[in-house]
Amino acid sequence: MPKHPLVSRRRALLLGLGTLASMGTLGMGRSKYLSYQIEALDDPKRDFTAVGEASLKERAAAKGLIYGAAMRYPALFSDAKLANCFVRECGILVPEWGLKWYVPGVPLRPNPDKFDFTEADWMAQFAKTNSLLYRGHTLVWHESLPPWFKDTVNSQNAEQVLVKHIKTVAGRYAGKMHSWDVVNEAIATYEKRQDNLRKTPWLELLGPNYIDTAFRVAAETDPKALLVYNDFGLEYDTPEDEAKRTAVLKLLERLKSKGTPVQALGIQAHLLGGETRFNSKKLREFFSNVASMGLKILITELDVTDKNLPKNTAVRDRIVAASLEDYLAVALDEPAVIAVLTWGLSDRVTWLSDFQSRSDGAAVRPLPLDADLKPKLAWNAIARALDSAPKR
Ligand code: XIL
Repeated sequence: MPKHPLVSRRRALLLGLGTLASMGTLGMGRSKYLSYQIEALDDPKRDFTAVGEASLKERAAAKGLIYGAAMRYPALFSDAKLANCFVRECGILVPEWGLKWYVPGVPLRPNPDKFDFTEADWMAQFAKTNSLLYRGHTLVWHESLPPWFKDTVNSQNAEQVLVKHIKTVAGRYAGKMHSWDVVNEAIATYEKRQDNLRKTPWLELLGPNYIDTAFRVAAETDPKALLVYNDFGLEYDTPEDEAKRTAVLKLLERLKSKGTPVQALGIQAHLLGGETRFNSKKLREFFSNVASMGLKILITELDVTDKNLPKNTAVRDRIVAASLEDYLAVALDEPAVIAVLTWGLSDRVTWLSDFQSRSDGAAVRPLPLDADLKPKLAWNAIARALDSAPKR
């Protein structure tokens, strides 16, 4: 794996920080020390120049990769400027909400007997009209379950409910879907189960085999779609992320050993700006271990939380961009990685405004385009990583 010059520079910075750490607690308040530590991560001289005018879509395609983003229906439907940016920059669209069981607005599953495909169909048509690939998120998850779920689904009918959902939803788009996140976030090492499975309603109602059932039914229903297991918390050199990487690998090995048709790992890659525990060697090894199982890899929800970063947008944007480029330099070095999707395209519409808002009230800046749809250094970082990626 080529040594990424910027990552070795980062290592030098971290060594410097290590020295500071021994001083850090002397005299300085912790929060002031932490912001100093994070400011020290900023490298004002780092070069983020992106050569040429090509869009992220074009730069990805030139390497046999796909770049795209998640988008929520109300934004894409009502914001023509955002929609135009989306078509220019993205080669694949994933509904942020429309293919989950239930997100307030126009839910897919308003009641046990009804499917409302209004949003998902409109977005499928938008993708088709604009020659975009379409991907589904997500058939089985413990979040975004409908209000009626807990009073309606029980151990007697759970499998029938699950199978009907997958057959109806995946069946509607069969042959048109690039890939499906069949099961999302099934691993939680803090649950201390031997199999490290998250204690979700699906596990409690159906046992661990709910995962195998979901993939088998999805494969029967849409043999053309790439079937993905998707999860988060796999990025950093922390005990938690290391444990989760190990648990995800064991899950994938278990599934493969039983002939369960999982074909790819989706790595959400919600990065944390200012997180210094980044080990490119360990991360690269993880990607290699997944690929060695014959699985493809998609980066499915890339963004950078900037809540711990300084308010100064020039500093913040540089640190966010550095996080993106350093991460993608490792990820895209693995030929099994076929796609990079950000979870949103513009800071105008990002889940992090609600879920990881800043204590100073400043608008978050996690995505390639700013709220005025102008490219940021984050855009440059992704462009540079795509330009540097080995051709597939
Ligand atoms: C998030 C959406 O972006 C939010 O709008 C919603 O309120 C909660 O879910 N991992 C996932 C995504 O797999 O489905 C989540 O999306 C973000 C974390």
